[in-house]
Amino acid sequence: ALVVGQRAQSSVRWDHVDAVVRELEESCATPIKKLRQVADAMAVEMHAGLASEGGTKLKMLISYVDNLPTGDETGLFYALDLGGTNFRVLRVQLGGKEGRVVKQEFEEVSIPPQLMTGGSDELFDFIASALARFVASEGEDYHLPVGRQRELGFTFSFPVRQISIGSGTLVKWTKGFNIDATVGEDVVAELARAMERQGLNMRVSALVNDTIGTLAGGRYHDEDVVAAVILGTGTNAAYVERAEAIPKWRGLLPKSGDMVINMEWGNFSSAHLPVTEYDRALDDESLNPGEQIYEKLISGMYLGEIVRRILLRLAKEAALFGETVPEKLQVPFVLRSSDLDVVGTKLKDELGISSTSLRVRKVVVQICEVVARRSGRLAAAGIVGIMKKVGRDDAGEEGSRIPRTVIAMDGGLYEHYAMVSATVQCTVKEMLGEEATASVVIKMANDGSGVGAALLAASHSQYLELEQS
Ligand code: GLC
Repeated sequence: ALVVGQRAQSSVRWDHVDAVVRELEESCATPIKKLRQVADAMAVEMHAGLASEGGTKLKMLISYVDNLPTGDETGLFYALDLGGTNFRVLRVQLGGKEGRVVKQEFEEVSIPPQLMTGGSDELFDFIASALARFVASEGEDYHLPVGRQRELGFTFSFPVRQISIGSGTLVKWTKGFNIDATVGEDVVAELARAMERQGLNMRVSALVNDTIGTLAGGRYHDEDVVAAVILGTGTNAAYVERAEAIPKWRGLLPKSGDMVINMEWGNFSSAHLPVTEYDRALDDESLNPGEQIYEKLISGMYLGEIVRRILLRLAKEAALFGETVPEKLQVPFVLRSSDLDVVGTKLKDELGISSTSLRVRKVVVQICEVVARRSGRLAAAGIVGIMKKVGRDDAGEEGSRIPRTVIAMDGGLYEHYAMVSATVQCTVKEMLGEEATASVVIKMANDGSGVGAALLAASHSQYLELEQS
């Protein structure tokens, strides 16, 4: 076995490997100057998206959330979180300022892949039936006042155009979803019909993006939360904007003066982004070519696929894994981002490549790191873009300070991939400088989005006026 291993190793064309890796590093480079250009472009696009409806890269969707949780929310509420490869159902008993979250339970269900690209009713029936089962398991320590309907916060993590907090039409699918029949439809109505088919009596009180849910959940625990970022299967951000800074807003100015905006930053693109030949090929062959360019450089759904494309090239052109190209390496999306930090075992388990030399594994690790570092640095530039837009990137006059500014962060890529989270943290510091760094905090808000949606369902409950009178 040893001899075979050595032979495989010696046939690698190392000069070519080194050249390809060097070229990759150059095309993925994110010097601070470039990141500043990205941050500036992000801030410019934010202005454009707030000014007019449609035609801009950033949709800057109005969430109709003009009040964030205060802690006064009480009662039993449900949440349903759809947006990645799993969906979650959750119930929470809220106890107001004193009790806070009295009790909560959740269940996670993985979505069969064929439902992500099938029919609309099939997807919503699947979700509603899981929700119905979950509701049926409600214990006696949850309290719904007699005669009341159960209420739900629906976290739907795709771009939705809303005219109220309680409904919204799907602009387009992103990530791995692609169901034509749902586009342009009111997703709350779709869910309501599916719940009815299940015989489930429940009202959707709030429809929110996961960024909005995370922002709400974050604010519940920390008053200084002003933005939320998701780094998971997809990537996106939401933040609190002054309503008067939203030219396209046609309604009355909300009492709070604020409006939460779902940026849909995944669709950002700019000539300043470091896009490689691998990214271009991935985009061309994706479900949504030309769209979600920033997301395709950053988020968990795509990082593994970028690496696979680089490895496939090295296998073909430089015999990195021996004379024959490993079959599995030719399968799109076999590598997930969660595979990238444990390369040795994953090469074997996921790709069936066993006799790699240390040198080969080192190259693979190096490639993963280049791609992960680029992801973290670009996400940091986006965060700095938001800080610029809200005027928290710079203290301004001498002697003044940036108020404490918290960004609630959620998503598996940030949570499980240390290289990404560390890179985001230190790049934000690098870009903002010493002084701002003391004020700007990135806080992991694990499943804030579920509780956040339940909190927003509570503050938009149909029984609220009844309660207050
Ligand atoms: C995608 C969706 C967006 C969501 C993000 C994170 O970018 O379009 O709505 O917030 O993924 O889940």
